[in-house]
Amino acid sequence: MCGIVGYIGSKEVVSVLIDGLKHLEYRGYDSAGIAVLHNNTIEIRRSKGKLNELAEMVLAQPVPGNIGLGHTRWATHGRPSEENAHPHEDCKGEIVVVHNGIVENYLSLKDELQARGHVFVSETDTEVFAHLIEEEFTDDLYAAVQRALKKVKGTYALGVMSLKAPGQIIAARFDSPLIVGLGKDEYFIASDVPAILNHTRDVIFLDNGEIAVLKQDGVKITNLDGEEKEKAVVRITWNAAQAEKAGYRHFMLKEIFEQPIAIEDTIRTRLGEDNIHLEEMELSEQQLNEIEKVVIIACGTSWHAGLVGKFIIEELARIPVEVDIASEFRYRSPIISGKTLTLAISQSGETADTMAGIRQAKASGSKIISICNVLGSSIPRESDGTIYTHAGPEIGVASTKAFTAQLTALYLLAIYLGRKRGAIGAERTKELINELRRLPHLAGNILKEDANLKKLAHEFSYYKDFLYLGRGINYPIALEGALKLKEISYIHAEGYPAGEMKHGPIALIDEDMPVVTIAVHSKTYDKMLGNIEEVKARDGIVIALATEGDTEVAKKADHVIYIPHAMEIFSPILTIIPLQLLAYYIADKKGCDVDQPRNLAKSVTVE
Ligand code: F6R
Repeated sequence: MCGIVGYIGSKEVVSVLIDGLKHLEYRGYDSAGIAVLHNNTIEIRRSKGKLNELAEMVLAQPVPGNIGLGHTRWATHGRPSEENAHPHEDCKGEIVVVHNGIVENYLSLKDELQARGHVFVSETDTEVFAHLIEEEFTDDLYAAVQRALKKVKGTYALGVMSLKAPGQIIAARFDSPLIVGLGKDEYFIASDVPAILNHTRDVIFLDNGEIAVLKQDGVKITNLDGEEKEKAVVRITWNAAQAEKAGYRHFMLKEIFEQPIAIEDTIRTRLGEDNIHLEEMELSEQQLNEIEKVVIIACGTSWHAGLVGKFIIEELARIPVEVDIASEFRYRSPIISGKTLTLAISQSGETADTMAGIRQAKASGSKIISICNVLGSSIPRESDGTIYTHAGPEIGVASTKAFTAQLTALYLLAIYLGRKRGAIGAERTKELINELRRLPHLAGNILKEDANLKKLAHEFSYYKDFLYLGRGINYPIALEGALKLKEISYIHAEGYPAGEMKHGPIALIDEDMPVVTIAVHSKTYDKMLGNIEEVKARDGIVIALATEGDTEVAKKADHVIYIPHAMEIFSPILTIIPLQLLAYYIADKKGCDVDQPRNLAKSVTVE
């Protein structure tokens, strides 16, 4: 879950590395470092803490040169410290490595290497790479890396540089993402596209078991056995500005405001008049008709999208759906067959638990479809088909626009399945499609309430606990609203199906407990009104989400946030937006680091 960047060319490498790392900070930010190869020396600068500290350090002690590696870390082995920050060196300081992933057999490798006299200076698993490559080196860095990799078990995206082979960078990938960027007489490696977008849009996505050799005059890619690979060059269409804050105070706020366009871009080109185009599903009519069950696996916010997906798919496609947290799914014995469609939902496409889940489902004969936001990431590459969400890069650690884009993809999928399997007819499909088309506009209307939500949030930033209640298709939104608040503001918040309140949580309610209730028009509207009464009767404070024009809720709740009218099935994509804003403004008022909350990372590539 770290970020890697590397450069070889004619530019001053430090600015390329620091700029690249800034765009990768979402992958980890507890320490950072760079190594620059210049005039027969390798200069290393590393620092604990955020990237700014490293940037200040290189400003105070500049490092000239045109070839180098950079790394931003999220600790897995060894606490965050300068010694554990990458790059790591071999015994003689002639080889440097940066790494993202986990070396599973590092303890046994380390014991063996130490027994042969190697001296380790960090607590990391990564350092074994530097010493292994040192041992394997005779006269060719590429061959040394190749041999070293064969001894390693685990996952890696690796960048290697050596004084003994000065004009090159070696990169390798296994289960941790790595791309190669192609410029004019300059080449890059990076964990993700935004890191190099200021320099090039042409990238190659490395596959597992591939090694790239970058030299000033070109790039060669082979497999672990040295066979050369022909790789497609992908042109990235979104620009660097899309990955910047564009004037917003935080990425999260910018991303909340990008939701209308994320929804629009996700439905764009996929809506017919009375059908949905989802050819990327890559399933034949027969395979679609044979599906007996859908199993959704995901983590965190993506799991909440999956919970909404169950309602949508069951209602529109009439197929039974199970939703599993990926880290639970992988350790039980789920009943999966060739007639099960497994649907993996992941913004990053790199979540280790979700990846393990799809491998397990695949082994049982299930077809795998993923909903993913990151082109070329690992989960789509292991899926039979992928419905890409087009939310653009999501940098804020708390997922917002990726979530509403995932919901949008789930609507597309459910309508597609329902129509193909005859569960819904042309007329109903047309109605649903018309409503889908309205969603970007409706989402935009909610965002116009930003100033009111900010005011409300400031009033509530002093509370210590929150309860979120919803029913039916909006129950997962109660979970997601609570998750947003807790992860960025560190306020304790719980989401509950409102009907469960009387079975326990009602005991918590008093004048210090704000209760956010989702009471938009729905089949369970009256029941939600009842829940609001119950909270008020116990002196709780109610913030209610209600449908525009509803006067009933306003009589009972302390505060009302209005949501434009939409078909109930589409309401989650609207009700979540004010809850994201509420969480954002509370956290910002408290002075929290909204985009990089403590202990979290954007992409969880470890178990
Ligand atoms: C919360 C959040 C996380 C992710 C989870 C899965 O705001 O972002 O809960 O949803 O780590 O990540 P992906 O979707 O990348 O698999």
